[in-house]
Amino acid sequence: MRLKTSLLKESKHILFVVMEHICVGWTTADELYSCSEDHQILKWNLLTSETSLIVKLPEEIYPTDLHWFPKTVGVKKQAQAEIFVLTSTDGKFHLTSKMGRIEKSVEAHKGAVLAGRWNYDGTALITAGEDGQIKIWSKSGMLRSTLASQGSPVYSVAWGPDSDRILYTSGRQLIIKPLQPSAKIIQWKAHDGVILKVDWNSVNDLILSGGEDCKYKVWDSFGHLLHCSLSHDYPVTSLSWAPDGEVFAVGSFNTLRLCDKTGWSYALEKPNTGSVFSLAWSADGTQLAGACGNGHVIFAHVVEQHWEWKNFVITLTKRRTMQVRNVLNDAVDLLEFRDRVIKASLAHGHLVVATSLQCYVYKNWNTPLIFDLKEGTVSLILQAEKHFLLVDGAGLYTFSYEGRLISSPKFPGMRADILNAQSVSLSNDTIAIRDKSDEKVILLFDALTGKALGDGKPLTHKQEVLEIALDQCGPSTDRKIALIDKNRDLYLTTVRHLGREPKICKIGSMVHSMAWNDAANILCGIQDNQLTVWYYPSVVFTDKELLPKTLCIKDGSEFRRAPQVLNYIGTKVTLRQGDGSLVYSSVLPFPALLHEYSISARWEDALRLCCYAKDQSLWACLAGMAMANRELTTAEMAYALPRVQYINFLREQPSKESSLAHMLLFSGQVQEAEAAFLQAGLIYQAIQVNIDLYNWERALELAVKHKTHVDTVLAYREKFLQKFGRKETNKRFLQYSEGVEVDWEKIQAKIEMELSKERERAANTSVRSSVASRR
Ligand SMILES: *[C@@H]1O[C@H](CO)[C@@H](O)[C@H](O)[C@H]1NC(C)=O
Ligand SMILES: *[C@@H]1O[C@H](CO)[C@@H](O)[C@H](O)[C@H]1NC(C)=O
Repeated sequence: MRLKTSLLKESKHILFVVMEHICVGWTTADELYSCSEDHQILKWNLLTSETSLIVKLPEEIYPTDLHWFPKTVGVKKQAQAEIFVLTSTDGKFHLTSKMGRIEKSVEAHKGAVLAGRWNYDGTALITAGEDGQIKIWSKSGMLRSTLASQGSPVYSVAWGPDSDRILYTSGRQLIIKPLQPSAKIIQWKAHDGVILKVDWNSVNDLILSGGEDCKYKVWDSFGHLLHCSLSHDYPVTSLSWAPDGEVFAVGSFNTLRLCDKTGWSYALEKPNTGSVFSLAWSADGTQLAGACGNGHVIFAHVVEQHWEWKNFVITLTKRRTMQVRNVLNDAVDLLEFRDRVIKASLAHGHLVVATSLQCYVYKNWNTPLIFDLKEGTVSLILQAEKHFLLVDGAGLYTFSYEGRLISSPKFPGMRADILNAQSVSLSNDTIAIRDKSDEKVILLFDALTGKALGDGKPLTHKQEVLEIALDQCGPSTDRKIALIDKNRDLYLTTVRHLGREPKICKIGSMVHSMAWNDAANILCGIQDNQLTVWYYPSVVFTDKELLPKTLCIKDGSEFRRAPQVLNYIGTKVTLRQGDGSLVYSSVLPFPALLHEYSISARWEDALRLCCYAKDQSLWACLAGMAMANRELTTAEMAYALPRVQYINFLREQPSKESSLAHMLLFSGQVQEAEAAFLQAGLIYQAIQVNIDLYNWERALELAVKHKTHVDTVLAYREKFLQKFGRKETNKRFLQYSEGVEVDWEKIQAKIEMELSKERERAANTSVRSSVASRR
């Protein structure tokens, strides 16, 4: 992902020396107003590329900030004239019409007014001044109260997501102050220099700050630091969240940066702009404008976003163009759109693209289904196999893939504009929404009718909920929802419980992100920085004791900083690491197969699979599945068989070291098992374990390091890819397969030799130890 910027050759604002005050604000996604010390208010039309002078302000008005009155999306459109607030160095703010007429000027502060911001519903305006005061005004500009008064200038203010708190700067400190006088104030030292800009996103509730110490930081709304940037060469003079809270932009001297919400930087631009003093995103999040110290206004839009699903990789190459690449055969298709792409989603064999005016649904790449959108600001697309959900400022809409509107759930106090993928979930039959007004509550709707489920009583957890996810398979009566709460505990519960109080069972702790598999009710998540797969989470409802045995915990030591699960499709988990890179992890196909057998009551096949796979966690899953289905014979075998089978298997091992390592493997301690093999000098066995678990990179790494069995790894890898009809894309494997010849006969012979060597050595040891004991 990166920013594509554009800058006119000459600035339209008249430059005197170096400007300190220049600001921008969008009216629509294609129209921007800017004003600066030259007293001009300019309008920029991006469709016609024209810049026009709206008005020349009186000589005494030096503007410092401008903010448009919020468009009241969703709520019935009042006949509200479009106005903006303009603050100025003479201590006044001015309510100004779109035509540039000053409707009202209000004396607000001593010295300059440095910032003016409307709250989300436009019922209040806040101003901050050089005099250290913060004041709240009515919509028409009547003073309501002075919220704070301090000794130093307030450079920047922002509203909290619910417009019930404000955030402002106080030297090196940040302060969050609730409007309610008795509520608690949070204050903390945030930077080593004066803080110049703050922003607070209403979707993710995260805070940005930047200042003279040349750093920008990301905070949660309790003041906990989530990210601190390296020091830039110049002060951070501006920053701004994109409306959906997925990315933000940072401005500094000749510098524009695009960052992910976790703080790491996607892209750095070095435009010739001087300091970027103010940044603003259009409401649809597609365009960014920056007001620059050299009188320029810089425009930028985000390109090179990627979407991946199975063998397709889609890239937004231009504003209206996507490239689809099939990695199986490298075939490339280009998709062209009439308007700018705002949001897209690729899953369940469909690509859904929302542009500023239309929605496109692709099943193949030639003939999309196209329908018009009411609002041009789709902020979220979610997909289930049967249908998809569009969220815009006004509401939520379920559509079939044929483009038919199916339902549109509504609830009191709905604020669709602040929903994101963590707070809404969709399945074939259900829509779940975490309630913003009480974050312990999850609202549940029938996806087909849009009506509240069952008796209409929502689900209430004992803690605030951070993330929800509905499982995707099985009958609707069994639909379950996983939730992560404020304590980072993971819970599972059913959504259709027919009047009974639902059982909300804990299935994990320290969980930071999760995703259900698309084809079976298997859940994966990051638990304590390790990728954990809950092969059969519902087992918690039948036999809680079995739950820990049904987990697969993958070594997370190779992950860098806070990985996030993006999706879990088929056997592939896609994760994004803290530095933005994608990593993939594969899960064995057996658990999904077991789910399939259980659903179709093929218990003999299930038993055979467990015998074949020799994996204790599968036996535990089967025991739970059979119990849940009252399939007692199978359950009995599943509880007992693994022990017998396991003892026999251990008995068959060529040496004691091998049985020990396999015991570790059975209890899920893959890393420890590998270490046990290595310590016993059983290099091939350590490599083979990784091959068996499809830990390809690790297998190759070991083989290369110990200069043995590289051909074995390559041979098994080739067989694996062939089986799944895939081509090699891993660079390291491509590199090694060039110089190495794969000869299965030779490999088999080598493996035989390794095993007989191990047997011989074990025999030698036991001879030696019996000799020793005879002495
Ligand atoms: C979901 O809907 C799709 C399409 O109608 C269907 O093929 C699939 O079986 C459904 N899945 C479940 C679990 O109901
Ligand atoms: C086992 O002992 C025999 C005879 O002492 C020796 O030749 C052989 O190398 C030993 N094998 C291993 C694997 O240690």
